[in-house]
Amino acid sequence: MRVPLIVGNWKMHLSLDEAEALATAAAKVAADCPDREVVIAPPFTALATVRAVVGERLILAAQNVGWAKKGAFTGEISPPMLRELGCRMVIVGHSERRHIFHEDNRMINQRLRGAMQQGLVPILCIGETLAEREAGRTMAVLEAQIRQGLNQVTLSDPARLVMAYEPVWAIGTGQTATPAQAQEAHKFVRRLLSALYEKNIATTTRILYGGSVNAANIDELMALADVDGALVGGASLAAESFERVIRFV
Ligand code: PGA
Repeated sequence: MRVPLIVGNWKMHLSLDEAEALATAAAKVAADCPDREVVIAPPFTALATVRAVVGERLILAAQNVGWAKKGAFTGEISPPMLRELGCRMVIVGHSERRHIFHEDNRMINQRLRGAMQQGLVPILCIGETLAEREAGRTMAVLEAQIRQGLNQVTLSDPARLVMAYEPVWAIGTGQTATPAQAQEAHKFVRRLLSALYEKNIATTTRILYGGSVNAANIDELMALADVDGALVGGASLAAESFERVIRFV
């Protein structure tokens, strides 16, 4: 019912030549795996180059998005600009945006709504810091991020939104959440979605896990009841490791 979704987040990496080669390789694997969806999120500057090689099945996403259609917003990229470059999805509220660039839930909600209004599917990232987990505040943090991130968002089609649980302490650290930690958080997210929306929205919305996902741990994570895919940073930057993640069993 929930088609597995693997998203490669390239962050601020790769030259244009490297981007083209990696996207070409990922497109081949995506074409060979019809039972799952594969997405890559290159830097803005590589979108046009990569678009030419993604083919029919590899989905293009951006790493962030401005909320207005156009205007005086130096440094921002609008939803129609991303659509024009072939993007169908966009990451919103990534922990690096929240913690390095101080984007708050209100701004993330603006970005998410702007993206949805222009027909982009947002991948809303949420996750607690280590201090928040140790203080027993994980679920409260997730709840606030979800309630505020989805403020004023009506959802009648589950295909219009993807959620991503990414514990901040697991991102780029090699320290993956345990299966029990991941499942507990994902179950909580789904329960909250069912409180906010129709039950069928909660049961059909895909919830990705992110944070040091790699070739060695993907199978175990994908076996969890409420994990529907992965948001992959480091392991998406090499063709072999990303292919193994896509081909999870
Ligand atoms: P990581 O990054 O896989 O390198 O931990 C994941 C992410 O930031 O989305």
